Amino acid sequence: MKRQTEKTLAYVIAAALFAIGVVCYAAFPETKPDEPVRIVFKSTAGKVLFDHKQHTGEDGYGIHCIDCHHAWDEDPDVKPVSCTECHEVDSEDPIKRSEALHQQCIGCHEDDGTAPTDCSQCHIL
Ligand code: HEC
Ligand code: HEC
Ligand code: HEC
Ligand code: HEC
Repeated sequence: MKRQTEKTLAYVIAAALFAIGVVCYAAFPETKPDEPVRIVFKSTAGKVLFDHKQHTGEDGYGIHCIDCHHAWDEDPDVKPVSCTECHEVDSEDPIKRSEALHQQCIGCHEDDGTAPTDCSQCHIL
């Protein structure tokens, strides 16, 4: 009889925890703002194809938004903005747009070891 009661209690607790889990999941879903799929950057050295989704996706390179959008405050209701908002095309303060992108893209690729670092591997078009 005691066994039976314990078993029932265990089921009740399990069901309650499950219900709490469902409610929490619905109330606080893990949301991320929309992101672009692919971006083509135009430059005087030729176009660069950036597969944004491939860089962020779990089945891609799984890089976190904040690792690139370093000024984003991680508010899921606010999308990260363009680098140009702060890194203007021809203002050195803090660093200009093309330099910001070169430093970030090539910097990580050098650390990675196998990602492209030659001019022609990025400036393909
Ligand atoms: C590997 C670097 C990298 C990662 C990781 C990354 N982004 Fe981006 N994202 C960029 C770059 C570079 C741009 C182009 C910015 C520009 O043109 O000024 C961009 C553009 C965007 C834009 C368009 C901004 C605009 O208005 O032009 C949005 C929105 C965005 N990303 C959201 C995200 C979200 C959400 C995540 C995480 C799920 C994420 N990004 C992860 C590098 C990255
Ligand atoms: C809201 C403004 C803002 C946005 C948007 C922004 N940056 Fe920056 N960034 C800064 C400021 C300010 C600095 C210099 C101070 C610092 O390192 O935080 C900086 C510094 C950098 C540096 C140099 C870091 C170092 O260690 O010297 C790189 C590289 C960079 N940004 C790349 C990017 C890229 C790429 C994007 C777009 C995906 C971007 N930033 C978006 C404001 C911004
Ligand atoms: C935080 C790290 C990181 C940053 C920042 C980053 N990448 Fe990458 N990138 C990678 C990794 C990891 C790979 C995959 C390397 C491999 O396949 O071994 C890659 C691969 C690539 C490739 C070749 C395969 C593909 O997906 O097309 C291109 C092109 C590329 N990146 C462009 C860019 C550009 C342009 C930027 C800047 C706007 C950038 N990456 C920023 C980590 C990064
Ligand atoms: C990892 C990818 C990547 C590599 C490697 C790379 N670039 Fe770039 N390059 C970019 C991106 C992204 C931009 C920014 C385009 C923009 O401003 O929208 C850019 C911009 C430029 C620009 C335009 C700058 C301006 O002020 O208009 C020149 C020139 C350039 N790159 C030359 C080179 C040369 C030369 C090399 C080799 C030494 C090289 N790049 C390597 C991705 C790369």
